[in-house]
Amino acid sequence: MPVTVVLGGQWGDEGKGQITDTLARDVDIVARATGGSNAGHTVINEQGTFAVHLIPSGIFTPGTTCVLGNGMVIGPQTLIKEMDALAAHGIDLSNLHISDKAHLVMPYHPMLDALEEERRGEAAIGTTRRGIGPAYMDKMARSGIRVADLMDEEALRSRLAFLLPYRNDQLVKIFGAEPVALEPLVAEMLAYGERLRPYVTQTEILIQDALDAGKHVLVEGAQASLLDPDFGTYPFVTSSSPTAAGACLGTGIAPAQVTTVLGVFKAYCSRVGAGPMPTELMNATGDLIRERGHEFGTTTGRPRRTGWFDAVAARYVVRLNGITRIALTGIGVLGAFESIKVCTSYRINDEAVQTIPTLAEVYARAEPVYEEWPGWQSDTSNVQTEDDLPPQARAYIARLEDLLSAEIVLVGVGQQRRQLVRRASLAPETASVS
Ligand code: GDP
Ligand code: IMO
Ligand code: MG
Repeated sequence: MPVTVVLGGQWGDEGKGQITDTLARDVDIVARATGGSNAGHTVINEQGTFAVHLIPSGIFTPGTTCVLGNGMVIGPQTLIKEMDALAAHGIDLSNLHISDKAHLVMPYHPMLDALEEERRGEAAIGTTRRGIGPAYMDKMARSGIRVADLMDEEALRSRLAFLLPYRNDQLVKIFGAEPVALEPLVAEMLAYGERLRPYVTQTEILIQDALDAGKHVLVEGAQASLLDPDFGTYPFVTSSSPTAAGACLGTGIAPAQVTTVLGVFKAYCSRVGAGPMPTELMNATGDLIRERGHEFGTTTGRPRRTGWFDAVAARYVVRLNGITRIALTGIGVLGAFESIKVCTSYRINDEAVQTIPTLAEVYARAEPVYEEWPGWQSDTSNVQTEDDLPPQARAYIARLEDLLSAEIVLVGVGQQRRQLVRRASLAPETASVS
């Protein structure tokens, strides 16, 4: 009953989609645990080029069961569009399951997300405006509408009849926006419910039954630990927990059932949205990383901020999540540089610092202290074995492994499924309970 958790180790967009798509053939279930359509996971394989937002990247592997877990927030219309787009490409959706406990992103959530961002002005978080924060607010305030509510007209109407006047007061009285009418909303939601009904189930039971039967479950993280509301660069974070703990909570897997936590890190850093990023390069080097890494948002199209690898932040993430294995993507992007820098500590107010300060205002003042490694200035996009990587690239990888105290098992030399170099065994580790 192995459980592998695949997590973003930086600020998102590390290549979780590619890693999940690649590992999917060796597992039975791929489950998403957290987030919603703020995620954008690129998958490039023999079937084509895809950007999935809600559906797990395991969907491209025939026979793999895919689960949208209870910890997610799901816009039913967005999900149906994504399902239709995949079906139009001939992707089989018969193994897709949606948790009846997942919360819904309702039409008023993206409206409130955008209005709240505008109200913040200069202090805007730079959210994806997909309604994620407001949907999780409703969940925690016990005012959320869940997938199960779409299956029961009476429950849906009574919950919305109670809740909608509050949301409309917010929209109209605080933001001067248009209210949402009850009956058309109920009708719209029930129609989505009918469409989704065949896929809806208690996915935590499906997962536990599979684990009992000795099956291998992979949890595909969305977002990344530095966007975690507890440990990330608060308030410049997302609203669910993209950590190993969040992976358990969002699927109904017990912590002791997790056998491997695999962190996905890019060989450099990128961030989209506001908030501190000590190694950000606002110069030609940063531009070249962006251009070579095609660093433009999968969900919003926004240009991503780019910079050198931050080993201080990465080490923090490795420890908090119990990461023992790493997939290091984006090595190919660094092939243009004469030398490559890695941040190994910060200087804040003239003091050397090895941790992430809690206050974003203080973290924003952190200056990176770098060590410099020789570049390899060659194209690695067709490399298939570790021995064929240039020696300078191997030295850089070994140094990161050393700094992070975790084994780099996969190295990404490009975005396609085949562009992954295997460095070490991917065989499941042993669970602490069985
Ligand atoms: P995800 O959200 O973690 O699945 O990652 P995205 O697909 O949103 O973004 C990955 C970004 O990394 C894209 O901009 C890629 O162009 C860039 N990238 C650069 N090198 C690699 C690589 O070797 N593998 C992958 N998967 N992405 C890479
Ligand atoms: P994947 O899964 C990168 C960022 C947003 C913003 C902050 C809050 O593709 O790695 P939200 O809409 O969640 O309220 O926005 O979090 N963000 C991401 N950045 N990749 C993602 O997902 C992200 N999901 C959210 O840009 O800074
Ligand atoms: Mg992404």
